[in-house]
Amino acid sequence: MSYDKVLKGISVIVPAAGKGERMGDGPPKQYLPLVGKPMLQHVLERLLSLSPDRLVVPLSPADSIFDSLPVHHECEVVTGGATRAESVQAGLDALSLDDDDWVMVHDAARPCIRTEDIARLVETVGDDPVGGILAIPVHETVKRTDDGKRIDGTVSRDGLWLAQTPQLFRYGVLARAMESAAGEGLEVTDEASAVEWTGLSPMLVMGPGENLKVTTPEDIMLAEYYLRMQG
Ligand code: CTP
Ligand code: MG
Repeated sequence: MSYDKVLKGISVIVPAAGKGERMGDGPPKQYLPLVGKPMLQHVLERLLSLSPDRLVVPLSPADSIFDSLPVHHECEVVTGGATRAESVQAGLDALSLDDDDWVMVHDAARPCIRTEDIARLVETVGDDPVGGILAIPVHETVKRTDDGKRIDGTVSRDGLWLAQTPQLFRYGVLARAMESAAGEGLEVTDEASAVEWTGLSPMLVMGPGENLKVTTPEDIMLAEYYLRMQG
């Protein structure tokens, strides 16, 4: 099946201004080579193959690598911020779209996203007034701890899902939500949490387990395994 027009009418932000501190030393993790090419190149190739209207990449002001990626000329670069939310905000500012337009945010750190899953998100969200995200149900037993040494309780996993990206929203909904979250000083680690905070309920769309967020060195082998499997 061909997905080459799935992102027609949709603009995409790929926040890539992070330092990858949990990955340890070396280049920022978005540039780590996975199966022979930088993580961010995998991500951008996959998104660009779906013909987004625009693709904006917030980068660190210290970034000196992006321009060496083969796809760099197909992206608009903006200066990111000190947090992921600020970087996404910089992308939203650059896009400056109409309220009803669609904007998708996808982490540079999720290189194993498959085009069919992006397509399923777009199709399921359809013409929803709010938007939706990929996510997966929690299968493990979840513990809470105050000190990281002893268990203080077990959190019921009933109804718990892990948020992934891509996350797809109406531009007006997301821009207003991000602005009020920033105004309230809320820590927003994904776009949906800002939107929820305004009282709206984004859709949950089942994501694939292989859409992992590459965070620590042990994630690299797994990401490479999935990328090889996907061909
Ligand atoms: N990100 C960003 N701007 C920031 C922080 C993060 O654009 N100031 C981006 C990262 O580049 C990544 C995504 O947000 O694509 C998800 O963040 P995360 O996985 O936490 O990456 P880092 O912040 O780079 O990693 P760490 O938290 O380990 O430093
Ligand atoms: Mg981070």
